[in-house]
Amino acid sequence: MKFLVLLTLSALAGAPSVLAKQLKIDGVHTNVEIERRSYDESRVRTEHGVYLPGHVREEHETIAEIQIDLKHTSKPPSQTSRTIKRNFEKRQTPTPVTGGLANVSPVPTVAAGKSDLYNRGQFEWSANIKIGSQTFEVLVDTGSADLWVAGSQCTNCGSRPKYTLSTSTGARNLSIPTASTYLGGRTVRGHLLEDTVTVGGVAVRSKFASVWDGASQLTSDIKWSGILGLAFTKLSPTLYPRGYYNWFEEAYRAVKFKHGIFGLYLHTTQNSWGGDLSIGGVNPAKYRGNIAWVKIVEIGTWKVNFNGINFGTTAVTSSVSKAVVDSGTNFILIPTADFNKITALIGGGIINADGTYGVDCKRKKDGSLPNITIKLDGNLKLTLTPAQYILYNPGDANWCNTAFLPSTGLDFWILGTNFLKAYYTAYNIGWVTANNSDAKIGFAVAYPYALDL
Ligand SMILES: *[C@@H]1O[C@H](CO)[C@@H](O)[C@H](O)[C@H]1NC(C)=O
Ligand SMILES: *[C@@H]1O[C@H](CO)[C@@H](O)[C@H](O)[C@H]1NC(C)=O
Ligand SMILES: *[C@@H]1O[C@H](CO)[C@@H](O)[C@H](O)[C@H]1NC(C)=O
Repeated sequence: MKFLVLLTLSALAGAPSVLAKQLKIDGVHTNVEIERRSYDESRVRTEHGVYLPGHVREEHETIAEIQIDLKHTSKPPSQTSRTIKRNFEKRQTPTPVTGGLANVSPVPTVAAGKSDLYNRGQFEWSANIKIGSQTFEVLVDTGSADLWVAGSQCTNCGSRPKYTLSTSTGARNLSIPTASTYLGGRTVRGHLLEDTVTVGGVAVRSKFASVWDGASQLTSDIKWSGILGLAFTKLSPTLYPRGYYNWFEEAYRAVKFKHGIFGLYLHTTQNSWGGDLSIGGVNPAKYRGNIAWVKIVEIGTWKVNFNGINFGTTAVTSSVSKAVVDSGTNFILIPTADFNKITALIGGGIINADGTYGVDCKRKKDGSLPNITIKLDGNLKLTLTPAQYILYNPGDANWCNTAFLPSTGLDFWILGTNFLKAYYTAYNIGWVTANNSDAKIGFAVAYPYALDL
C-alpha cells in the first residue's frame, strides 16, 4: 500500500534530527520516527522496529514529501519490501509566476514577526494571538478588517477561551458598540476595547472587539475564539469612521516594522501546524520563484482586476471584472454564470447537494482535463492544474469536487483557501497616511508545492 506524508523537519545543521510522527499504515495508526542523518540520507523507524531507508531533502528548512511503499509489514524487518522515493523530482513542478507590475522594489525577506498557522480540516487557517496575557486562537482572514474575540460575558459563544477585561491590566473599554458582518449575513456583536495585541511576536496597543453575541459565528463546530481581520481598515464600519486603525495598520503606524507588508502561506496538511503568517515582510522559505505584484483597485478588501480564465487554450470570459483574495473563504467562490461555463467545459459530472460540481477523481490525473489559468490585472497568469482544481472529498475516495463554488449575485471572484494553498500571497498596504495609495498584492508559487489541494 502507499501513503503520502508531507514532512517539515526543522533545520539542524550537522546534527542528526529526529521527528516523531504518527502515520496511518494499512488503516492502523503507527508511530514512526524519521531521522535525518546527513544532507541526503535519512531513515524512518516504525514502532515495530522496521527501518526504511529514505531521503530527506534539505532546504532553508528541511522539507520532504516522501512516498512510502510498504508491501507487507508482517515479514521480518530485513525482508520487508520497502521503498521511499523522493517525489520532488518525479512530480510536476509548478510554473513560476510571471507578469504583474513592472519595477516593484524588492520586499523585505526578514520579517519583524512570524506566526505559525493551524490547518483546521483543510477549511480554516488560524493563529494563536495574545491579547494582554490571554491567548486566543483566531481565524486569519484577509477578507475582513476587524479583530474580535469572544468575551467573558458572552452567553452564546460556547466553551472556547474568552477574553476577560477585568484581569487585563491596562485594558480599556471604549464602550463603542461593534457589529462585524460576514458573507451570508452572519453578524457578531460586541464592544470596542483596547489592549496590547501580540501577533507573531509583534505587540502593539490596538483596538479589538469583545463579543457578547457570537451565536451566528461561534457554533460548536468552530474551534477558534475570534477572527483576525487583515483587510484594510477602510472596510471596518467601527474603526474607519472614527479614525482608528486595525491591528496591522496600527502596528505599522507605530513602526513595529518598516514595511507595511505581510505574507501568507497556507499549508496543505490538515489538522497540523505549518502555515505561515509573516509580518513586516515575506518568508522566502515558503515560496519559489518571483513574487509578481498587481495593484489593489479598491481599498477595502484585497481586490484586483480580473480578466477571466483560460480553460486550457479556451478563453472563458467572466460576467465580472474583479477578484478578491480572501483567506477566510473556502473554495473559489464565483458567480453562478461563470460556474456554469466552467462546469460545462469540465463536463461529465453532477452538481452535488452542497452546490459543488462532482466528478470522478480519476480526472485529477488522467490527462482528460487542461490547466485552468486565472488572469489578473491584464498580464498576470496563475495556473491551477487539474490535480489542484479537482479536490478529494473527505467522505469519498472516488468522487471528487471541483474547487469552484457558485454564488448568486456575487460581483467578483473570491480566491479563497483552495487557491491560496497553491499560491503564496504578499500584501502591501501602501501608504497608510495617504488612503493606502500604491497598495499591492503579490503572488508566488507556494512551497512546499501544493500539488494536490
Ligand atoms: C499545467 O501546469 C503545470 C504546472 O504549472 C505545468 O507544469 C504544465 O506544463 C501545464 N500544462 C500545460 C499543458 O500547459
Ligand atoms: C464595555 O462597555 C459597554 C457599555 O458601557 C458594556 O455594555 C460592555 O459590557 C463592556 N464590555 C466589557 C467587556 O466589559
Ligand atoms: C484621502 O481621502 C480623503 C477622504 O476621501 C480625502 O479628503 C483626501 O484628499 C485623500 N488623501 C489623499 C492623499 O489622497
